[in-house]
Amino acid sequence: MPTSTIIEPFRIKSVEPIRWTTRRERESHLRAAHYNLFLLPADDVLIDLLTDSGTGAMSTNQWAAVMRGDESYAGSRSFDRFRESIQDIFGYRHVIPTHQGRAAERILFSTACRKGDVIPNNTHFDTTRANIEFVGAEAVDLPIAEARQPSAWHPFKGNMDVAALDELIVRVGRDNVPLVMLTITNNSGGGQPVSMENARAVSAVCHKYRIPLYFDACRFAENAYFIKLREQGYENRTPKQIAQEMFALGDGCTMSAKKDGMANIGGFLCTNDGVLAAQEKDLLILTEGYPTYGGLAGRDLEAIAVGLQESLDEDYLRYRIASTAYLGSHITEHGVPIVQPPGGHAIYLDAHAFLPHIPLEEFPGVALAAELYLEGGIRSVEIGSLMFGKAAKMELVRLAIPRRVYTQSHIDYVIEVILAVWKRRHEIQGMRLTYQAAFLRHFTAHLERTELAQTVV
Ligand SMILES: Cc1ncc(COP(=O)(O)O)c(C=O)c1O
Repeated sequence: MPTSTIIEPFRIKSVEPIRWTTRRERESHLRAAHYNLFLLPADDVLIDLLTDSGTGAMSTNQWAAVMRGDESYAGSRSFDRFRESIQDIFGYRHVIPTHQGRAAERILFSTACRKGDVIPNNTHFDTTRANIEFVGAEAVDLPIAEARQPSAWHPFKGNMDVAALDELIVRVGRDNVPLVMLTITNNSGGGQPVSMENARAVSAVCHKYRIPLYFDACRFAENAYFIKLREQGYENRTPKQIAQEMFALGDGCTMSAKKDGMANIGGFLCTNDGVLAAQEKDLLILTEGYPTYGGLAGRDLEAIAVGLQESLDEDYLRYRIASTAYLGSHITEHGVPIVQPPGGHAIYLDAHAFLPHIPLEEFPGVALAAELYLEGGIRSVEIGSLMFGKAAKMELVRLAIPRRVYTQSHIDYVIEVILAVWKRRHEIQGMRLTYQAAFLRHFTAHLERTELAQTVV
């Protein structure tokens, strides 16, 4: 039954109220939060698009699975179901549960990398980069050139520059590259997918130099669906078959199950390397827990086992990708500049193009995020100069869509709010920092509007 209306492929069984606030209240909440939306109480937010991580709604089948969670310390049946579900999709020999994605990263890089090593990726997510740098290695981003141009349209803007990868390995020497990573979809690059062709080419370079390939698999199901939609030869394959084919090109993965695991917490690390897996489990026991729970409750393992399979459901993926694209296309129709094409889990507003009158030193992304809150109680996140300082390549505001949480009318409301801010964009002022922490300053920074600024600490 073809229809242009996007409907949620689920019924709602349990609801959570959200609260309206007045513009005056929001102005005062903003001031109290020092214009940093991380510092807002969630109750003062109407539509929370801060992140898609751990914010999704679980299904009836996941809640039913939660009830059969086996909380045994060792040898839990829930771990068997968790491992079986992961191996069914990912196919790797060793499955190590962790409390979330960054714990999998820390364990992988602490065991596989040494000081001075170089780890290439299409684009490292911030926790991935931080965990690599923590062990004294260097994280190198090698996206294709189009990835750095917000308005350029490319079906697989998450692709890695394969020639640059080869050159890097030759330049630094294969012994200094313990592994290559490929992030699907490329979150920091705009939630953009990686094609099977590109993954195959990256895998071929890795094989040539005998370097293992690891996927950062957070949004693997969304990536698989983009391949089905956009890559020739995959139209008739299921998202699961596509995911299986892609993972077969690699040797392991890290995963935050808070994304396409459809869970509120959890993650895992996989590898085909038995020696490495033994070292990783030793480290796991030291900081996360026994290898059959790894910092998670048995019920979390159950929710992830079911959620991973649900994320590959075609009706769900069709709605998810269409709904994000709908938001993107309705604002672009009115001239709002975004990273093109719309990604899987988020829309990224190009704050620099949205507010060209605000210099980069005055944080156009923070100013825009504050206005979206002021206008309609929407919480987003700046991904630009506040987050990355001088290393920022773009000034973006990310609107990340939690999975199965908001309906199409919520999305219509978000469009209305963005367009209202777009109309009065010339009145928006820049921001100035009044407090910053020594690292990861965006979480706790204090700012004020430029005309009010007095001190910089
Ligand atoms: C691509 C990517 N990798 C890794 C992570 C880290 O996962 P977690 O937040 O579960 O530690 C994230 C989280 O947003 C991510 O988007």
